[in-house]
Parts: sequence; C-alpha cells; structure tokens
Amino acid sequence: MKLVIANWKMNPVTLKEAKQLLRESVAAASKLKNIKLVICPPFVWLQELSKLIRKPFELGAQNVAWADKGAFTGEISPVMLKQVKCSWVIVGHSERRGYLHEYDQMINKKLLKALHSGLKVILAVGERKREGSHRIVDIILETQLKAALQGLKSKYLRNLVVAYEPVWALSTSGTGQIETPDDALQATLLVRKVIARQFGPSQVSRFKVLYGGSVDKHNVASFVNQDGIDGVLVGGASLNAKGFSELLKQVK
Ligand code: PGA
Repeated sequence: MKLVIANWKMNPVTLKEAKQLLRESVAAASKLKNIKLVICPPFVWLQELSKLIRKPFELGAQNVAWADKGAFTGEISPVMLKQVKCSWVIVGHSERRGYLHEYDQMINKKLLKALHSGLKVILAVGERKREGSHRIVDIILETQLKAALQGLKSKYLRNLVVAYEPVWALSTSGTGQIETPDDALQATLLVRKVIARQFGPSQVSRFKVLYGGSVDKHNVASFVNQDGIDGVLVGGASLNAKGFSELLKQVK
C-alpha cells in the first residue's frame, strides 16, 4: 500500500472547484487498490469537504497550532481540526519554514502537540539548495529530524510520516528541477537511519518515508515504485484532476 498525499497549498480559490477536485480525485483513487490517498486542502474548505469524503480516504491540514486554544491569532488548533474530520496535518513544510520563518523549535512543538492530540503527522524535511555533497544533505536532514522529533516517545512513530522534499526541487516555490530517484532513495534511507539511531532499529518499520518535489504523472513511478519509498507528497500535480488520476495509476 503506497501513501499519496495531495498538498493543495493555497488552491483552489472557490469551494465549488475544491469540491469538484476532491470528488474527481477520490473517484480516481477508488478504482485502485494499492493507494491510500490523503487530501490536504486549505483550512476553509475542510468543513465542507469533510461531508464529501469517505473512508479509506482522509483529510489533512497544511498547518496546526501547538496549543488547543487561546491567544494565537490566525492559528487553528488540533481540537478544531479533529472536529472537521481532519486526521492528518503537514508540519514543517518548506514554504512555511521559508516564507513564514517557522523554525525547528516551533516545528517540534507543533509535531508533539499534533501527535499527542491523535492527529497523524507528515513532517516535511529537505535541503534548500541543490549544490553540496551528499554529506551536507545528510547533515541538514539529520539536524532537521533531530530537532523536530525531540522529546517524542516511540509509541507515536506509527502516526508519523516523514516526507523528504528537497526545497529546490519543488515545482513552484523551488526551481522545478527534478531530484534523481537514486538520490531520493538515499535520502529516505538516511531518514530511517537517523530515526533508528534515536529510537532503536526495531522502530524503523513503524513510520513511513515519502518523497516530494515536482512529482508528476511522468516521474512518479521512478520514485514511488522503489522499495524504500512508501509514497509521495504531491503539490502542483494534484490540482488537475485528470492529470492526478493518471499519476495515481502509475503508483504500484
Ligand atoms: P510540488 O510540491 O509537487 O508542486 O513540487 C510539493 C510540496 O510542496 O509538497
């Protein structure tokens, strides 16, 4: 079973389009047995979309606060998300790290709060620039992972998904250049190694590791059909229902 996360980012701009996209995406995934699809729309569409979505398909948010309630202008809490049938959340996406200056300590607080609240977390990690050796990428990933997972108890790992997303490889906010499937696999192996070091080797099968960054219908198979990669995080290519449906068909 491969996990496909559709990160709609700040799209689409009308509820009508959002409903249509959700219906068509779910219809396409329903025909395939080997895919678990999670759709992450903007906050404001969650409530209405929760009325349309049925198991095994699930909704995710793109951000979450580290508190249940209180003076956090502009934030949405895990308690609120769960009321709109949202069971997943993306934490630490590079666009939030970059444009909104989210730093490691905030990401750690959000991750712990979301997991303790019963949400499943997609933690996004990745280096900003392409240049640099594998060794530099490894150090960046290790630093981000250690900071984000600080204080986490191993029992929560089953609700954790780590998405390796090299920032430069994102289709709109990055350069749109493509990561090689081999390098993507190496990075996902490193993610497993770092988490195994922190929690013990017996824990590596409890969490999933995905690849994200300009994944589309043409390249998805080269990433997701490798044994070490448990799925993909798809941004731009999840916004066109027809193209997304073709992408899903490539996932084996
Ligand atoms: P992209 O975005 O697929 O458009 O590159 C992925 C992401 O940012 O999660």
